[in-house]
Amino acid sequence: MRLNLGCGGRKFPDWTNVDKFATCSPDQVVDLEQFPWPWPDDAVSEVRMYHVLEHLGAQTEIYLGIIKELYRVCRDNAAIHIIVPHPRHDDFLNDPTHVRVVTPASFGLLSQANNHKWLTTGMANTPLGLYLKVDFALETVSYALEDPWDKLFEQKKLTLADLQHAVRLYNNVIKQFDFVVRTIKPAGRTIAAATPQIIEATLASSSAALDARMEPSAPPSENA
Ligand SMILES: C[S@@+](CC[C@H](N)C(=O)[O-])C[C@H]1O[C@@H](n2cnc3c(N)ncnc32)[C@H](O)[C@@H]1O
Repeated sequence: MRLNLGCGGRKFPDWTNVDKFATCSPDQVVDLEQFPWPWPDDAVSEVRMYHVLEHLGAQTEIYLGIIKELYRVCRDNAAIHIIVPHPRHDDFLNDPTHVRVVTPASFGLLSQANNHKWLTTGMANTPLGLYLKVDFALETVSYALEDPWDKLFEQKKLTLADLQHAVRLYNNVIKQFDFVVRTIKPAGRTIAAATPQIIEATLASSSAALDARMEPSAPPSENA
């Protein structure tokens, strides 16, 4: 099964086109912020999320729930193709329904290989893949440059170093990120080294706290 999540008007034949709004006539009406998603474990070979993730999960717990569901429904090595606006492009800033920044690097936090490396080297990055029990590998990343940066780069009037410098200094240099991540199942499969004690200790204390935050809240009592 292949899912085009948050399809809007951009539908693909032979894909299951999914949206929260029936108005755009999706194949399936699903609110991706409600859990569980209506697909079984390991059922999905490919996902497209084009200009969708930045609209989801204003609350961090909801966003992390989306990441966990995405992982659950995908089979091993499923390709997830994501396009999101660059957070320092006006396209991102001008839409009030954009509720969060999503970058390829944010998916780096969901790689258990990265998480193990950081824990063993004492780096402060959140080992989110280990906490959420998910594992994603970033496969490709490309950047769509805004005019005139694209032309200047094509005409070789800018080097890659110039461009990297410009991205740090200015808004509206990169229009959008376009990247592919793959699911690794079971989580941690690609990590060859045995789990060091430090990782176990860190996880025991902090993943329990995170799990507690991810639990759905109790329904309000009638007397409330
Ligand atoms: C900017 S549009 C992108 C549409 C299409 N993917 C494209 O690239 O043209 C974002 C889409 O995400 C959908 N969406 C937003 N929140 C959603 C949710 N919670 N569940 C499912 N779809 C959602 C919107 O209805 C809208 O169609």
